[in-house]
Amino acid sequence: MTTTTQATAVTGAVGTAHTRVEGRDKVTGAARYAGEIPFDELAHGWLVLSTVARGRIRSVETAAVLGMPGVLTVLHHGNAPRVDSDYVGMLGAPDPTAAVFQHERVPHMGWPVALVVAETSEQAREAAEALVVHYEEEPHDVTFSAGHPDAYQVDGFMPAVTEKGDLEAELAASALVVDAEYTTPEEHHNPMEPHAATALWDGGRLEVVDSNQGTAWVASEIANMFSLDPASVRVRSEHVGGGFGSKGLRAHQVAAVMAATGLQRPVRVVMTRRQMFSLAGYRSPTTQRIRLGARADGRLRALDHSSLSLTSTVHEFVEPSAGVARVMYDADAHHTANRVVRLDVPTPTWMRAPGEAPGSFAVEAALDELAEKCGVDPIELRVRNEPETGPVSGLPFSSRNLLACFREGARRFGWADRDPRPGLRRDGRWLLGTGTAAASFGAGAGPSTAAMTAEADGTFTVRINAADIGTGARTALTLVAADALEVAPDRVQVRIGDSDFGPAWIAGGSMGTRSWAWAVTAAAGELRERLALNTGIPPEGITVQSDTTAAIGALARKERHSFGAQFAEVAVDPATGEVRVRRMLGIFAAGRIVNPLTARGQLVGGMIWGISMALHEEAVRDRASGGHYGADLAGYHVAAHADVPLVEADWVDDPDPDDPVGIKGIGEIGIVGAAAAIANAVWHATGVRHRHLPIRPDRVL
Ligand code: MOS
Repeated sequence: MTTTTQATAVTGAVGTAHTRVEGRDKVTGAARYAGEIPFDELAHGWLVLSTVARGRIRSVETAAVLGMPGVLTVLHHGNAPRVDSDYVGMLGAPDPTAAVFQHERVPHMGWPVALVVAETSEQAREAAEALVVHYEEEPHDVTFSAGHPDAYQVDGFMPAVTEKGDLEAELAASALVVDAEYTTPEEHHNPMEPHAATALWDGGRLEVVDSNQGTAWVASEIANMFSLDPASVRVRSEHVGGGFGSKGLRAHQVAAVMAATGLQRPVRVVMTRRQMFSLAGYRSPTTQRIRLGARADGRLRALDHSSLSLTSTVHEFVEPSAGVARVMYDADAHHTANRVVRLDVPTPTWMRAPGEAPGSFAVEAALDELAEKCGVDPIELRVRNEPETGPVSGLPFSSRNLLACFREGARRFGWADRDPRPGLRRDGRWLLGTGTAAASFGAGAGPSTAAMTAEADGTFTVRINAADIGTGARTALTLVAADALEVAPDRVQVRIGDSDFGPAWIAGGSMGTRSWAWAVTAAAGELRERLALNTGIPPEGITVQSDTTAAIGALARKERHSFGAQFAEVAVDPATGEVRVRRMLGIFAAGRIVNPLTARGQLVGGMIWGISMALHEEAVRDRASGGHYGADLAGYHVAAHADVPLVEADWVDDPDPDDPVGIKGIGEIGIVGAAAAIANAVWHATGVRHRHLPIRPDRVL
């Protein structure tokens, strides 16, 4: 495989492929995950979830299970300590789903109603399964639909509505109009490592050993919720087996802290795979209407994108799918709106590329429909609609190399030979087609602190509260530190995942590596100045601290995004409805690439998730019970090896002009546009537009 990124720095660390620094520990089992770190006197909690979708808890029959072997306590709304969920945390108001056992109300199927704690995990589970809870049931509504009467506009983490120009007038004056509704289903992230936390009090400090996307964040949430001095809470999370947005503060950490406080011994709570379907958050289903009005040559006069998602009655979370067009395409009249409806379901959350993943499916599929109507090649259509500045913000782009991605992708994919007419190519019983789509994701940085020590033995130790959720962040930071110090990477040790290392941005928003690399680079600069003044290093080493708050605050306002071009080739069997992806190529302009090896894995992983999204993933709710059909990885289909063909990811040079290392962020963009490229390829193969995901065999037939 080739890469267009060259190693440029003195040591050649950044930009050169490196295996993970903790790789050996991971494959030999030496790396311990949160649920397998041993503690003396460890007790085990097992969550009991509601079996009704709405109502009240009438009674929790604890007496019978308290007599079962090993059982230590049963926590529920009648005896649990009160907590505070009315505060504003690092990412806004908390999801009170985590504030368990505070009231008798049951807002959805799978709501935590009790925690059974026992000497062993098996005893806790047996008692939890034996625990009888009586409910007063109330009628529930779990049915999501475009026309739901209770839908309302809401800001979430971006404005609900943007508008300019006279939409209806521009649509009426357009030579060509696309007006279509797209839907995406409820989708679940299932990190390989389930959520797990152990809480204990140690010398007056609360310690939580956890699996999360930011220990400083989770520690501050716990301190807020339990009204504790932030300095008295320590959260550690050294190795994390996947996150995707779900690993913040959730019911299991809070329940573990409550039990550890009451019992005054360490308590561990681990989610089961099934429990994760109601406790870990998920991606809301969406219904999205897109209206495009264009001149005969494909240039847009009107763009309208309205998206509806759902949330729970507990907390307002918005999947902001209509945000995509605010960055991607301009039009004389431009309107985008996000709406939400509250149903009796668990609260959705951030799930890899929140907004962009479902939003790009609709926008990029609609663009393909417009290309067909205009008789313009889909790539040429995007060239004609490439904006000079942010379509809604009017701000300049920090850099926007979308067209370079399309050029390089088209060349490598063989796009030039493509006959645009659908339904013409055959390979035996298979119909063949190709499709493309654009991708974008925000490229930001959050304030972080880092400590860097020059050790007496000539090595360097970095302490930064980063989270490596499987992305390779620890290795990336090792390379960044080595380059900044101008030393070989094996002289640098990076320690992460400990709230005692001070505040730092989370592994989220595709901002982790960039945010932490900035702080590491700043610390290295200062340390080199200090070392230049010194003749020797004392036994305790020389340590400096960095804080990027001021530098990031001083950044000029720009549209800051990564971009990409996705290509897919599919084969469709019209007799069975089966769709097979034959190959995919993604070319990205996503800032300087720190470690091509893990970066490629991150991008390919996102593209494979796009295959899953296009063809497989769909959580189905039973209207009668309000719960899922098949809340497990047998019933919830994800792409398996046999579904994954040749998938290639590469990039064009795109160093961020305002970042000390040139990084933008690659965490989420891999999934963006991937499902649209596949859906567009299915149209090219068959001549049929599929506007509802997943493209199941029964929908193809
Ligand atoms: Mo990501 S959805 O910001 O973990």
